Amino acid sequence: MPGIDYNERIPNNVSLADNRRLQRALEEWHPKFLEWWMQMGPDGFQAKDVYLRTAVSVDAQGWAQFDYVKMPDYRWGLFLAEPEAGRTIGFGDHMGAPAWQDVPGEYRGVLRRLIVTQGDTEPASVEQQRHLGRTCPSVYDLRNLFQINVEEGRHLWAMVYLLDAYFGRDGREESEALLQRRSGDRDKPRILGAFNEKTPDWLSYLMFTYFTDRDGKYQLASLAESGFDPLSRTCRFMLTEEAHHLFVGETGIGRVVQRTCELMREGKTDDVRRLGGIDLETLQRYINFHYSVSLDLFGSEISTNAANFYTMGLKGRFEESKKRDDHRLKDSTYSINELDGDRISTREAPALPSLNERLRDDYIADCQRGLDRWNQVIKKHEIDAELRLPHRGFHRAIGLCAEVKVSPDGRVISEAEWDAKKHQWLPSESDKQYVQSLMQPVTEIGRFANWIAPPARGVNGRPVDFEYVRLA
Ligand SMILES: [Fe+2]
Ligand SMILES: [Fe+2]
Repeated sequence: MPGIDYNERIPNNVSLADNRRLQRALEEWHPKFLEWWMQMGPDGFQAKDVYLRTAVSVDAQGWAQFDYVKMPDYRWGLFLAEPEAGRTIGFGDHMGAPAWQDVPGEYRGVLRRLIVTQGDTEPASVEQQRHLGRTCPSVYDLRNLFQINVEEGRHLWAMVYLLDAYFGRDGREESEALLQRRSGDRDKPRILGAFNEKTPDWLSYLMFTYFTDRDGKYQLASLAESGFDPLSRTCRFMLTEEAHHLFVGETGIGRVVQRTCELMREGKTDDVRRLGGIDLETLQRYINFHYSVSLDLFGSEISTNAANFYTMGLKGRFEESKKRDDHRLKDSTYSINELDGDRISTREAPALPSLNERLRDDYIADCQRGLDRWNQVIKKHEIDAELRLPHRGFHRAIGLCAEVKVSPDGRVISEAEWDAKKHQWLPSESDKQYVQSLMQPVTEIGRFANWIAPPARGVNGRPVDFEYVRLA
């Protein structure tokens, strides 16, 4: 888009004004991005004023400025977390060497692949969520949806910045390809499985932001440890935004649980469907589904790629710098799952190829925290029930358990038992239809759909009944 003052239009701390080559690449990419956004971003609402948070700098005041903006006018910024003076590589074969400020030639291909894989998830989730605005349970929730959508858009910018600034012509080709793949498309699908699933309703969306965005948090956190400093700094800043997405998921499901419990108490029944609520059994099945497809995103238990990324210094462990070991892991072991007849047991495996499993373990522990909080809500209503994470082997398409059927309590079972019981464990067609039937838009300011409780507080100190989206 010639004629635009890019430094003004694209808030950044990457010296965009002084980098003609990068400016030119972005000038070419920006209109294509906008075309993608209008075609694949939120359906409807593009002309509406939305009360959004925009990052205009990385300091405490600048990174969260709230105001009304129309989504296509959102200022997609390019931000890196502040540099750490004298930062060194914290793990792998290059441990102790100065962090790379440029792409190390021997790792160029691998690094590009890592960035593209991360980058691909950002527009994918926008595509998956594009129809949801039409069935929002409240204007508050509508605004949060759009906040997440524009920030995933900005995360795409963040990855495109790395590709354009550091990878030359093939980087620019990858930037284009990121706009060409489509979630769920048979010919040009997104790279990772969970990002080709549909997000057909708001319950799925809240589950996605809790479970699948959380995979994003763990991937970003391990890339934030990268020896390639621009990637590390980019991911560190993205993590601050990602926290809000996880908040939307955790409080969103918490509010559904809250409403379900209220209806159970009021109606003195477990069958809250009669009262227009979402019963705990259905919630459990949605949890089972979204958790299991998100577990797949971490890859196989044993992975040479994971070992290589680590040894090369490109992708660390979660909170690598806080760990007290040799950060090389050549002689260490890690406990992973093993199939033992019809049981799943554990064995010690070399630590390096087990890094996916280790990251998955960190993720699982983090997931459990939300369930504990939701179960608190159930308990407060004096209801004798509990939501649970299914066994990690349940409903897996990748890794050890992909070849067998595993029950939520971790037994390897027969195909026949699986077929007989899967509808108790995963959302059935009738569950989906029921949830779909609840998806009637509620757009009156301060009102909420019957199946979800209002939030405890509004956004940025505003009241819950604030006009978060000007729909009139
Ligand atoms: Fe993201
Ligand atoms: Fe996200």
